[in-house]
Amino acid sequence: MIPVNEPLLGNEELANVTDCVQSGWISSAGNYIEQFEREWANQCGVKHGIAVCNGTAALQIGMESLSLKPGDEVIMPSFTIISCALAVIKAGAIPVLVDSDPRTWCMDVSQIESHLSPRTKAIMPVHIYGHPVDMDRVLATARQYNLFVFEDAAEVHGAEYLSNRDSGNPIWRRCGGMGDLAAFSFYANKLITTGEGGMLVTNNDEIANRARSLRNLCFQPPRRFYHMELGYNFRMTNIQAAIGVAQLRRLKQIVARKREIAKRYTDRLSKLAWLELPQEEPWAKSVFWIYGLIIRDDINMDAEQLAAKLTKAGIETRPFFLGMHEQPALHQLGLFINKDSRLPVCERLARRGLYVPAGMGIKDEQIDQVCSVLEQITYEL
Ligand SMILES: Cc1ncc(COP(=O)(O)O)c(C=O)c1O
Repeated sequence: MIPVNEPLLGNEELANVTDCVQSGWISSAGNYIEQFEREWANQCGVKHGIAVCNGTAALQIGMESLSLKPGDEVIMPSFTIISCALAVIKAGAIPVLVDSDPRTWCMDVSQIESHLSPRTKAIMPVHIYGHPVDMDRVLATARQYNLFVFEDAAEVHGAEYLSNRDSGNPIWRRCGGMGDLAAFSFYANKLITTGEGGMLVTNNDEIANRARSLRNLCFQPPRRFYHMELGYNFRMTNIQAAIGVAQLRRLKQIVARKREIAKRYTDRLSKLAWLELPQEEPWAKSVFWIYGLIIRDDINMDAEQLAAKLTKAGIETRPFFLGMHEQPALHQLGLFINKDSRLPVCERLARRGLYVPAGMGIKDEQIDQVCSVLEQITYEL
């Protein structure tokens, strides 16, 4: 079976982990944590990095740091992972969903304004599958209505966005460095991995202090075991950070390889008329976290059926996200139960999209094998 993703770990990761074991610094105290936080924040171009145990935790402490009130609203895409909605709800607020852009699969930024209300407090753009959200409109709306922008950058390590295109002075900016705060995941399938892990980044001192406190059970500096509010144990270990430090040194090569993998797929698959392939807008430098395929509407086969065919041929796949408005767990909370509020692009992506193997461990011959199988399937349509 060709796995959908395999991490690639090297000698430097091993040396750093060995260092942790030999020195005994294996908990959430240790030099690698601070180093990883500093270097990660630096590569995003922001001041603070707060390392946590996973990306969901980063979203959660970030959202809680915004001190939202019950009934406050956060505008976000439906097409994302449950972690985003969960963070909004756990912070006491209500997710308000917009549909996706059919080309980038990210939130359709032209729909944000029509979803604003007097209760809107934040926008959460989620950069999907390696491609940046068109951020200028998000940032302009946020400025105009005094809203927080909380980027979910879990899937876009190293991706860039061409900002200020209308001003005649465009500038490339890193995903995760454009909003008030941003969350990253370092799960094993991400470009940079620590096995499990996450990071919140921000330029805002107040948000950073609050997030640091929430990460660590809200211990009060003057008196240990005295708590003014309830937090979490979301700490990252020094061992995880040690792996992250080593991985980060290779970010440029990792991005280059991901782009190479995507190009190899695109070069070969673009002649298959039944498939839509990942796009890269002129204003984006995608890192192609995954390589997604959409089956065109006139083809009598959905993503599940294609996945079954690929599995039979020894190729592992993953389905695309299922939108938040289609989640029973959220319906049970009384959210998104209005049947009229369909989100057609998101629903199409969920049913006609899947992704094929494209992790750092993949070999060119394996990519070619996946392409051959897809070419073969063409004759069965
Ligand atoms: C967009 C997005 N946000 C958040 C997360 C959550 O990260 P984690 O799995 O580390 O909790 C993921 C995980 O894949 C993700 O894809």
